[in-house]
Amino acid sequence: RNLELEQQLQAHEWTAKLYHFLLKNTEYGKSAMDYLKSRGFSEKAIDTFQIGYAPSRWDTLVQFLEKRSFNLDVMEKGGLLSSKQDGSGYVDRFRDRVMFPLHNRSGKVIAFAGRVLGEGQPKYLNSSESKLFSKSRTLYNLHMAKGEIRKSRQFVLFEGYGDVISAWEAGVHNGVATMGTALTESHAAMMRGLADEVIVCYDGDQAGQAAALKSIPILEDAGFQVRIAMLSEGLDPDDFIRKYGAERFHRQILDGAVSSVKFKLIYLRKNHILLEEDGKVAYIKDALEVIAPLSSPTEREIYLKELSAELQVSFESLKQECNEKRQSMQ
Ligand code: UTP
Ligand code: MN
Ligand code: MN
Ligand code: MN
Ligand code: MN
Repeated sequence: RNLELEQQLQAHEWTAKLYHFLLKNTEYGKSAMDYLKSRGFSEKAIDTFQIGYAPSRWDTLVQFLEKRSFNLDVMEKGGLLSSKQDGSGYVDRFRDRVMFPLHNRSGKVIAFAGRVLGEGQPKYLNSSESKLFSKSRTLYNLHMAKGEIRKSRQFVLFEGYGDVISAWEAGVHNGVATMGTALTESHAAMMRGLADEVIVCYDGDQAGQAAALKSIPILEDAGFQVRIAMLSEGLDPDDFIRKYGAERFHRQILDGAVSSVKFKLIYLRKNHILLEEDGKVAYIKDALEVIAPLSSPTEREIYLKELSAELQVSFESLKQECNEKRQSMQ
């Protein structure tokens, strides 16, 4: 047993309780509570996800941990405190932020993400990487979602905390999030034992859609059946649910999730200008890169027919080009 790790885990658990208490029961937490309410976070969500508030003072946590005889060097290594510039001691890492505890798979708090109230940079400050916390191996909410994931053999992959929380309130209990858009092979490998299918539900903006595209080979190489849920108007899942409600999120967004091939084609289409001939030609070339490798002839036919109708190009010539591409791939 590693004593430092034990202490860091203990400190994280208490810190989460402290921040949650400060948010809910003190005057310090009022502005954060107002902020959360204005965004539509319910009391129940705040409790379920143990959301908290880190006050703006430099030493709230320093004092709290000192009083409990934690070694502050160890706390700094664990990511809760920062060293002072002149090396004369420590200050709180998180100040004046809404706090989201991040848990490991077994439900122990291992890190925090702190959001500014409103505008400001960075929007989310995460705990530094440590022996306890590695961003590339952590998925937000996995500890609560894993039961439902195992049962349904499926999970929904979001990019943000708010998305997981809103979806949870909308009845989606198999949602997890990467912290941002960087899905790693370790994430995929971790999930493979629990599920066979994944719905990628990233933000509707360009960054989210580009990240969804990147996630496809990572997930497919790990053996997942992948579908992509698409959000329009640059909304993220949280925005969508708050704007249109849970029922529409299920019916339109999750049930309407498309195959990875379909998503790639839609993505390409959006990124080519089809009014001009060279745009069309470039789009066809890229689309064939997606369609030609498909092993099923009927699947290829379906997509080629769609492409043909969409671009008013004959099915025959598309098929011929596709077959030539297949031959060159061998
Ligand atoms: P988004 O920019 O989409 O944020 O980043 P969001 O989750 O919708 O946040 P709200 O709704 O404005 O509060 C997606 C995720 O990327 C990570 C966070 O995990 C965030 O939830 N991120 C984003 C950071 O870690 N740091 C940042 O500064 C921004
Ligand atoms: Mn985003
Ligand atoms: Mn977002
Ligand atoms: Mn959001
Ligand atoms: Mn459904």
